[in-house]
Amino acid sequence: MKNSARYGAKIISWSRALPERVVTNNDLAQILDTDDEWIVKRTGIKERRIADPAKAETATDLGAMAAKFALANAEKYSQTKIDATEIDLIICATATGDFVFPSTACMIQDRIGASNAAAFDMSAACTGFVFAMNTAYNYIQSGQFKNIMVIGVDLMSKYIDWADRGTAVIFGDGAGACIISATDEADDCFHSFYIKSRGDTEMSLYADAVANQYPVAAVDITNKPAMVQMNGKAVYEFAVKAVPEALEAAIEQAGFQVDEIDYFIPHQANIRIVQSAARRLKISMDKFICNIDRYGNTSAASIPIAFDEACELGQIKREPGKKLKLAFVGFGAGLTWGATVLEF
Ligand code: UT7
Repeated sequence: MKNSARYGAKIISWSRALPERVVTNNDLAQILDTDDEWIVKRTGIKERRIADPAKAETATDLGAMAAKFALANAEKYSQTKIDATEIDLIICATATGDFVFPSTACMIQDRIGASNAAAFDMSAACTGFVFAMNTAYNYIQSGQFKNIMVIGVDLMSKYIDWADRGTAVIFGDGAGACIISATDEADDCFHSFYIKSRGDTEMSLYADAVANQYPVAAVDITNKPAMVQMNGKAVYEFAVKAVPEALEAAIEQAGFQVDEIDYFIPHQANIRIVQSAARRLKISMDKFICNIDRYGNTSAASIPIAFDEACELGQIKREPGKKLKLAFVGFGAGLTWGATVLEF
């Protein structure tokens, strides 16, 4: 039956799930020609979490944990109760799922008992969470689905060449999620989406094969081309332009001024990329949520991890009856980049 009604969408919950194992810069300096001072100065990273095969931490495990936490957190974030069976779509942004197929989203669906949900994965690398939120929004606006679980999960460690200091120090593993629900058109919390892609003919950031379920140890690496290959400088130059471009476009489309945004939640790739965007936009770094020091670059998971943690730590202050204006921005392999402005 044709449904001509348009719906609004709002976020009702957030969550994060991280592996327990902490790998510090000094740990990496034991196996690589690197040191804490270089890594902190050039990236802002002090430590990251790396999934532990002994604890069976796979992309499905972390993604399912984040999904369960998101269901439980709905009460805390929006005084809403939601059961897994009420979720009617799961979109999992990942480039590092356990299998080529089935999708990580389907395995999470089974794990959390979301028996009424359709489920699929979305591949847009580190921009995956923004692309997935945009997709969820459109499904809700069209009236097709009412409650969508958006998950970002990546186990980049499966693809890391632990002998390559140019990539091994940067990435970490993790998962994060949010639940987006239908509301009246007048209550729509999303003001704009801006998403872009540009096929990367230079291949500045890629991994060309599928790894196994668990992170590999350095000794396991027999197939170097399957590991992450990155031209760090090229990606850096792309990122320092892409971040302000996406933010300015999304904020303008939302009809706001840059200084009206309460908090910016950027993909956590390098603290210098965030500082550069803050300078270009003439916005204080205090408004940018950064936790890269503790988790490194967790790819599609970094945005929800940063947001959920900042709310829990009180770094993002929400007051009853007052909505914050937020700008989320991602960028990464593809190349892909994008931003969304919303109220929460
Ligand atoms: O999610 C999106 C994906 N990725 C990104 O956003 C990454 C973007 N790029 C970056 O963040 C930076 O380019 C890196 C952090 C990857 C590298 O920083 P950089 O300032 O661009 O360093 P560089 O590659 O220009 O290397 C400078 C020097 C080189 O030595 P020489 O040739 O000057 O003697 C490197 O060999 O630093 C050396 N180097 C290191 N030294 C110690 C590179 N990696 C390391 C390391 N430890 N881990």
